[in-house]
Amino acid sequence: MSAPQFLSNCTADAMAFAAAALKNGQLIAFPTETVYGLGADATNKEAVARIYSVKSRPADHPLIVHIASMNELEKWASDIPTFAVSLARDFWPGPMTLILARSRLAKDFITGGQDTVGLRVPNHSVALALLNEFSKIGGAGIAAPSANRFGHLSPTTAQAVQEEIGEFLNEKDLILDGGPCAVGVESTIIDCTSDAPRILRPGAITAEMIEESTGLKISDHKIEEIRVSGSLENHYAPIVKVILCDIAIAGQGFIAFANTETPEGVIRLASPENSEEYARLLYSALRRADELGLREVVAVQPVGIGIEVAIRDRLSRAANGR
Ligand code: TXA
Ligand code: MG
Repeated sequence: MSAPQFLSNCTADAMAFAAAALKNGQLIAFPTETVYGLGADATNKEAVARIYSVKSRPADHPLIVHIASMNELEKWASDIPTFAVSLARDFWPGPMTLILARSRLAKDFITGGQDTVGLRVPNHSVALALLNEFSKIGGAGIAAPSANRFGHLSPTTAQAVQEEIGEFLNEKDLILDGGPCAVGVESTIIDCTSDAPRILRPGAITAEMIEESTGLKISDHKIEEIRVSGSLENHYAPIVKVILCDIAIAGQGFIAFANTETPEGVIRLASPENSEEYARLLYSALRRADELGLREVVAVQPVGIGIEVAIRDRLSRAANGR
C-alpha cells in the first residue's frame, strides 16, 4: 500500500479537504490534546471497519465518538443524567470521555454491540477545526481510537502515528500533524450509566475534579466483564521491559523527575519537572527506548492523587509487557 498524505499545514482549506475525505470514507489520523486518534465517519460502517483492521483491534472493543461540542450529545446519547451534563459543561472540550446510554445513531459497529456509547469533545484546535468542518458538511461525529496498533503505546506525535500505522493506510488517507500532544495520556473515561460517576480509565480529569463538578461521590462498584480494552492488564506496552523502581543500573533506560540524578552509564529518557510534564513525555520516552533497542527501562513512579494516578496506571500496564 502507498503512503498516506501527511498534512502539517492545518489551514482552513486543509481542514475542509480532510473533512471531505472523512465523508468519503477515508481514515484521518488527527491530533488531540491527549494522544493522536485514528478517525473515521462514525456513521460509516465500512470506514469504521477499516479502523479495526488497521489497528488489528478485536471487533467487540467499542470506539469513542468525537463530537464538536456538547450540543451534539443528544444526537448520540439518550437518558443523559444531570451529573453527566455538569461534567460536559465543566470539562469539555477536554481530556474526558463520557459513557452514556446510546441513541439510535450509535450502531453496534461503534459500541461493540453494547447499549452504551463513549463521547468526547477533544481540546485541540486541529481536532475541533476538523470536527466543525465535518459537521458543516453533515457529519455527525468522528469515531477515533488511539492511532496505534492494538495493545501498543498511543502515539503522541504525528511521526509516531506514521511509524505505528503508516504502512496500513492508503494514499487517500491523511495524517494531520498538530505537534506533540499537550496531555500525553488518554482521556479519563467516566461511566455515567448508573447513579454516580465511575472511573473506567484514569486520566487528566481526576476523581477530585469529578466529585467537585458533580457533587457526587465516585462509585467504586467493580464491573465484571472487560468492556474497556484499555483495562487489559498488558495494554499500553512498549517492546522494552519496564521496571518500576527507583534505582537504575548501567545500560538501562531511566525515567525520573529532574531532581533525580542519572547514575553512571544509565540512558536518561526523560527528566520531567512535574507530573504534568511526566504524563506528556512518558510515551515518547518509552518509544525512544524501543528505537534505541534498550532491553530495560527503569521508571520512578510519581506519587500523588492527581494525574499521577493515570501515570501509575499506564506504567503498571507497560510493566506487564506485551
Ligand atoms: O484520549 C483518548 O480517549 C483517545 C483520543 C484519540 O480521544 N482515544 C482513545 O481511544 O484512547 P481508544 O479506543 O484507544 O480507547 C478508548 C477506550 C477503549 O478501551 C474502549 O474499550 C473504551 O474506551 N470505550 C469506548 N466506548 C465504550 C463504551 N461504550 N463502554 C465502555 N468502554 C468504552
Ligand atoms: Mg487505545
